[in-house]
Amino acid sequence: MCGIVGYIGARKALPVLIQGLEQLEYRGYDSAGVVCINPTNHSLFLAKEKGKLGQLKSVLNGVSLASTTGIAHTRWATHGAPSKANAHPHEDCKRRIALVHNGIIENYQEIKHKLLKKGHRFRSETDTEIAVHLIEEYYDGDVEQAFRKAVGELKGYFAFVVLSADEPGKLFVFKRSNPMVIGVGNGENFAASDVTAIIPYTRKVIYLEDDEFAVLERDSITISSRASHKPIRKTISEVKWSVDEAKKGGFPNFMLKEIYEQPRVAEETLAKRLKNGKVWFDTLDSKAEAHLKKIRKVFVVSCGTAYHAGLVGRYMLEEYAKVPTEVQVSSEFRYVDPLVTKEDLVILITQSGETADTIAALREARAKGACTLAIVNVVGSTIAREADYVIYTHAGPEIGVASTKAYIAQLLTFALFTIYLACLRKTVSAGFVASYLKEMRKLPKAITTILHREKLLEPPAKTLFKNKNFLFLGRGYNFPTALEGALKLKEISYAHAHGYAAGEMKHGPIALIDSTQPVICIAPFSKTYEKMVSNIQEIKARKAIVLSITTEGDKSVKQLSDWVFPIPKMSEIFSSILSVIPLQLFAYKISVKNHRDVDQPRNLAKSVTVE
Ligand code: AGP
Ligand code: GLU
Repeated sequence: MCGIVGYIGARKALPVLIQGLEQLEYRGYDSAGVVCINPTNHSLFLAKEKGKLGQLKSVLNGVSLASTTGIAHTRWATHGAPSKANAHPHEDCKRRIALVHNGIIENYQEIKHKLLKKGHRFRSETDTEIAVHLIEEYYDGDVEQAFRKAVGELKGYFAFVVLSADEPGKLFVFKRSNPMVIGVGNGENFAASDVTAIIPYTRKVIYLEDDEFAVLERDSITISSRASHKPIRKTISEVKWSVDEAKKGGFPNFMLKEIYEQPRVAEETLAKRLKNGKVWFDTLDSKAEAHLKKIRKVFVVSCGTAYHAGLVGRYMLEEYAKVPTEVQVSSEFRYVDPLVTKEDLVILITQSGETADTIAALREARAKGACTLAIVNVVGSTIAREADYVIYTHAGPEIGVASTKAYIAQLLTFALFTIYLACLRKTVSAGFVASYLKEMRKLPKAITTILHREKLLEPPAKTLFKNKNFLFLGRGYNFPTALEGALKLKEISYAHAHGYAAGEMKHGPIALIDSTQPVICIAPFSKTYEKMVSNIQEIKARKAIVLSITTEGDKSVKQLSDWVFPIPKMSEIFSSILSVIPLQLFAYKISVKNHRDVDQPRNLAKSVTVE
């Protein structure tokens, strides 16, 4: 996935584009580039560099362009290695048309072959470059028409912004599957993959739908459908996020800032969803309620951290709403021909709302006639728009690649949805609901207490940071916590970490244990607490190094562990919301001590918009 930004207006384009790329760098960071139209001779100024945006910025240092129109890109390579030649924007043979792209052109080889025969010369190995040559091939004085014809030939998914030196007063935009938002300014307009690139200038935005074209001029925006060419009237939405929310707010990086935002996220989630002692979702009307009441089975489909939220969600739904629930990773779900019927509910969980595998799973579920509900953080994202029903997690923008506050918001939303569904299905008593919600209200304070204990993790992190192998063990609601703790650690520290159901240790992995093996045991009070104590005893007998997450007042686990991190005492269902927080902090500390790039770990992107 990549970040795209386009600008047309009265300001100098280059600083606007670079600032936009800074906000979008989380989407990809293996190269970056920019093209601006020179206003005096209408030639194209192109600069691109391999590496992070900083490389491009240092090349552009001291460059001042009068240009007020341009496009820019930060890349996460899919076709062709990260290199200067493969960086976007790409230009046609005559260097009159330039294009940036997010997505994949699946039939690019066949088109490239055809274009090569016609004499086009390529400068990169990307799938993207064929699109700009195809526009050149069709160009006979009208860029929009040539762009329309070119797009008609492409298979795959894409968001494009195109400009041409021959029509310097316009930007041409198209979207299919990948996100594209238009920023509506005063005497200026913007196009970007994400609103964060636009909000320093305007809060008025238009979300493009699939197969829509937009032509941006300084003073106008014309949107039309690909099929009919007819202009479409679009709603202008107002973005509520503040610019500050998308910045680091005094923290050394976004991940730590986002970890520390979790009490507020919990507070706001509860405030929005609890009304008069009941769970309430603004987006679920009586039609939705009637639908949800009758469901036969739930499938939860998601990737990575969101998948772990689904695993916790399954325990919640089965225990309280008494509905059979199956959890699958999106990339498996879509290819196994899942036995989903019209009576089933498919819940898609996603922070970005743009994960390609989850989009495909959603479409698969819809094709099978299931009712679909998306639990999404990014408002207006593809999954939010395509699902039958949506519940927003409202965690605010999450910029760090490692998901933290979005996970907490997903778990809380699941806990709330469980009670909502349980009430619809009449599987819980009014008394139970009252005590459940009363306890839930204690979560924001409990999370704050945990954050105040951050320094307890300093000694284990200091001792273990050079270790290359970690095991994470948990049971019940905290088995997914073990998976999530391991994922956090491996993605930002590059150490191997494995999450396991503690009861499975004796079936194989215990062979790994010796005096050099660190094991992180998630062992708060629960119905399997005694079993967990025995499991810790078994690994301690084999001399493992043990860091345990315990409940305040615990004695048995403390005796067996080298270090403990106590969390406030709460019901097992809520312990999974609390116990993951020390694991996020532990991973963070190990990453910092190893001098890793916490926010932008290698080989990753914030949302994975390719299969
Ligand atoms: C989490 O730390 C990861 N970076 C990743 O697993 C992520 O949760 C996954 O790619 C799903 O993304 P989504 O929530 O935006 O769909
Ligand atoms: N396929 C394009 C490339 O490799 C764009 C990648 C993307 O959006 O993920 O350059």
